[in-house]
Amino acid sequence: MNEVLDLFPTRLNISRHDDSVIVDEINHLVVCCEKEEPSFNFNAEQNDNINLFDEYRPILPVFLTWLTDAVNEYVGHEHWRFSESWLNIYTKNGSQPIHNHKDCQVSGCYYHQTVEEHGDLITHNPNSYINLDVWGCTWKTYPVKTYPQSAVMFPSFLMHSTENNMSDLPKISIGFNVALERGKQGGISGQWLGKHTLIHDKPYNMLDGKSYGQSE
Ligand SMILES: [Fe+2]
Repeated sequence: MNEVLDLFPTRLNISRHDDSVIVDEINHLVVCCEKEEPSFNFNAEQNDNINLFDEYRPILPVFLTWLTDAVNEYVGHEHWRFSESWLNIYTKNGSQPIHNHKDCQVSGCYYHQTVEEHGDLITHNPNSYINLDVWGCTWKTYPVKTYPQSAVMFPSFLMHSTENNMSDLPKISIGFNVALERGKQGGISGQWLGKHTLIHDKPYNMLDGKSYGQSE
């Protein structure tokens, strides 16, 4: 008998579409934003109270339908809202330092205009002891490719950063945060975070064949 318990995983979701209507919608959005006083910005940590999707919802019908479906798939239900959203434009050498997102449970980025030279999204191991280097566990970061017409979603606690844009072509993406309605409490401790979260409210089989948590 062999049993693997995949404890405390960090699940990312990558969704990609092939719809030219969405590309046109985002191109239109970028033109609209660039006409305004900086409604885009270069620092995700200063994005309080901006919600691009609210402001531009009428011109993003196909994109927001697609992205909403992707979020539903990731979190496993429809009880959530886009709490913040913003446009990122990285000019040459632009990048994001390591950070995470507060007041939300899921964060994501939709990549509109990206090329290989724009670099990867770098995710950082959430194990707070990883930098001690005492156990040989030196897998500190994991790069995620930023394909155009794709969205990457991850738990908001996950620290992340971006590599420098090494291209003259601006890197254009849309960041967003998702606030979930509070779910039911899990069996041992913690909150339910959608269908991909294991709720340990049932006994599991130990190697001796007995069930852990089973009353005698
Ligand atoms: Fe971020």
